[in-house]
Parts: sequence; C-alpha cells; structure tokens
Amino acid sequence: MLAIIGGSGLTSLSSLEIERREVARTPYGEPSGALTFGTLCGRQVVFLARHGYGHTIPPHRVNYRANIYALKHANAKAVVSVASVGGIRAEFGPGALVVPHQIIDYTWGRTSTFYDGVEEPVHHIDFTAPYDPALRQRILAAAAEAGEHAFDFGIYAATQGPRLETAAEIDRLERDGADVVGMTGMPEAALAREIGLPYAAINVVANHAAGRAASAEGIEFASIEQVLHEAMARVRHILECMCED
Ligand code: HPA
Repeated sequence: MLAIIGGSGLTSLSSLEIERREVARTPYGEPSGALTFGTLCGRQVVFLARHGYGHTIPPHRVNYRANIYALKHANAKAVVSVASVGGIRAEFGPGALVVPHQIIDYTWGRTSTFYDGVEEPVHHIDFTAPYDPALRQRILAAAAEAGEHAFDFGIYAATQGPRLETAAEIDRLERDGADVVGMTGMPEAALAREIGLPYAAINVVANHAAGRAASAEGIEFASIEQVLHEAMARVRHILECMCED
C-alpha cells in the first residue's frame, strides 16, 4: 500500500474513495491527523495531511516521528511526500514540479531520529541517496503518463521556518548547490529511511525563492494560493497514474 503525505495545498485527495479514517497512537505521540484509508484508481492508499486537516501545525512542530511510525504500522510499503517549495534555480518557477534527488538539511532542534533513547544502541543509516531511486522513477513514469512535466533532479534545502528566508540566505543555499527550498523535507526523509520505508517526493514550486525573479522585492503570498491550487490538480493526476499501473 502506498502512503501519501500531503503538504500545503494538498490536505485531501478528491479522487480518493475513502473507506475509513483511523486515529493512530504511537510511542511518539499523535500523528498530524487521522490516517485516511481508501482507494485511488482501484489501489489501496493511505493519506495523511502533514500540517493537519485544518492546516494548523507549522513545519517545526510536525510530529514527524509519529507520522512515519503510524504509516509504517498501517502497513504502508512506500511514502510519496507532496510538499510545496520555493524555487532557487531559475527554471524552477511557480507551478514547476520537481522530483528531488538530494537534500541538504539546515533544520535545527527537531527530533530527527527514532534512535535517541538511552536504551537503544547507536544506529546509523546510509543516507547517500536520501530519496528511494525506484520510487522516484515510479513518480517520473507516472508524470510522463499523466502528460505532466516533472524535473527529474533537484537538491532540496530543508530550512527551519516558519518564516521564509532572507535573500542572502537564498544566495547561500544556491552557493551550497540547492535548487529548491522547503521546510518539511527533514527529518521526514531520514525517519522513513530509519524505519525502512522507501520515500520520495514531489515538490511543487509555489514561488520564486526570496530575492529571485518576481520575488526580488518580496514574496507575494496572494499568488501562491492560486499557483498551488492549479499545480496540486496536476499532482493528483500524477498520483492517480502511479496507482493505475
Ligand atoms: N521557502 C521555504 N519554504 C517554502 C517556500 C520558500 O520560499 N515556498 C514554499 N515553501
């Protein structure tokens, strides 16, 4: 069963035929909301809204451990994360879809491992390729089938938020090699790896990052909503095609 974690702009899946909702409890507390089980194009999926169904949980307060643990224990076999981002690379303008291949983590103070108890032995994971290559290919194939262009590369910079970045911070992220910037990619990806869940992402560019192009003088929040509304319809189509094969 595929798990889908929806971010800003994707708090529900209209084409999901809902069968049941389950409030999951985990040793790490409560997930962002009830797990929604159903079928998408005939396939079982489980959906979770990362920021809660009323979009009330900011990125630094998401209980990433509870979310990933709950999906694993709901019998998910893979996780597709949908997350909005700012575009740093010039060609990643508003509305672009990006399937990132790498991450740089700038977050701090988040509980970022399942292995931080005194009783657990030290545990290191290989994170050379943070996104599961096969799952990335499945997303890209579904995008092609849906007739939606998705960039098949991107270095994702995970920032702390909830504020957006300064122009100088974006310059720095670019010097570091980042192509997109978002606030929720970590520790989510690392936790999925720790628990053994293949994980990949569809990033939806909501805006040019701070100081870039139309965001040279500031980020226009008014246009973001419309961009996300339109782009998420395309993402839903890709997710449906992922479930059709
Ligand atoms: N920065 C960080 N996160 C984001 C942005 C951004 O510009 N846009 C959407 N999520």
